[in-house]
Amino acid sequence: MASDIHAVENYFEIDITGLLNRADTLSVDLYIRLGGHFTKICNKNEKIDVPRFANYFKKGVKTLFIHNSEKHSYYFASHQFIQGLISKPEIVSQESLRAITELAEQAYNDLRTEKLFDKDMLEKAFNVTSNCLRQLSADPKAIRHIIGLCRVDNYLGMHSVATAVVANILAQAIESTQEPFLHQLTLACLFHDVGLGKLPVEISDPIRNLTGDEFTSMKQHLEHGESLLKAEPGFEARILTAITQHHENFDGSGYPLGLKGEDISQMGRLLALADNFSALNTSRGPSPRLASGNEALKMIKDEAERFDPKLINALFYASGKKAS
Ligand SMILES: [Fe+2]
Ligand SMILES: [Fe+2]
Repeated sequence: MASDIHAVENYFEIDITGLLNRADTLSVDLYIRLGGHFTKICNKNEKIDVPRFANYFKKGVKTLFIHNSEKHSYYFASHQFIQGLISKPEIVSQESLRAITELAEQAYNDLRTEKLFDKDMLEKAFNVTSNCLRQLSADPKAIRHIIGLCRVDNYLGMHSVATAVVANILAQAIESTQEPFLHQLTLACLFHDVGLGKLPVEISDPIRNLTGDEFTSMKQHLEHGESLLKAEPGFEARILTAITQHHENFDGSGYPLGLKGEDISQMGRLLALADNFSALNTSRGPSPRLASGNEALKMIKDEAERFDPKLINALFYASGKKAS
């Protein structure tokens, strides 16, 4: 077992709970952090010692590390695993927990590496999102909707999780941090695009420019999402309303109803801004993401009239910048 000291920047964290559900191998070396030391505890292609890792978890170790140079191969293995789940008729809860934990880690690591948002706010937002995902993993049927979004690549799954993290940052910045509200907001974000799973793959491909007819079909993801989720327990009317409003704009230029200002629910307005930020900033598999965090902020500022001004201020506050 090798021991080494490196700058923290050379490593990125992965959630240990995702590893407790898999008795296979990883294509990367795994490290534990003890003080400033990163110690290798599992060699690449060595079987994961689940009881030992469970013991670490019991002792309070929540995260392990992989070296940045192996991040790509770790992401690729996650991609393959999630793609493999899509064609399976049944997903068991352990698999669903592993799949969504990996999506969440990638989204979180991208945001953390970006160093755009206040570190504490980002961490709290990630914790709320992870807790919600852990609770959801008991319901593989609901998780299947998110996994189904990864048909083209894992982008839409990661986008959903990244939207939840960004929305939770915004919620902290406007001091709306009551537990039931955050839970409902997180659910709305995680599931806001699940209706895309009902549409042909070409239409949900985030890279393509859609024709006029395809754009008309794409808009139907709102009603498809609502009808899918109505059948799921725990999706109260407030959550469904926010989901159906996530393409409404504060200035009335959005769809489906062209609602304006506070006629759009607060949760819908939060979701809309987080969704737009994340659509620009989330990694897109083999293709580059559309914008860095700073570029995304600028693009949103250029179209600020589409969003609630209080939330625009909150977004800039959380990134330590001024909106005007
Ligand atoms: Fe959408
Ligand atoms: Fe979206």
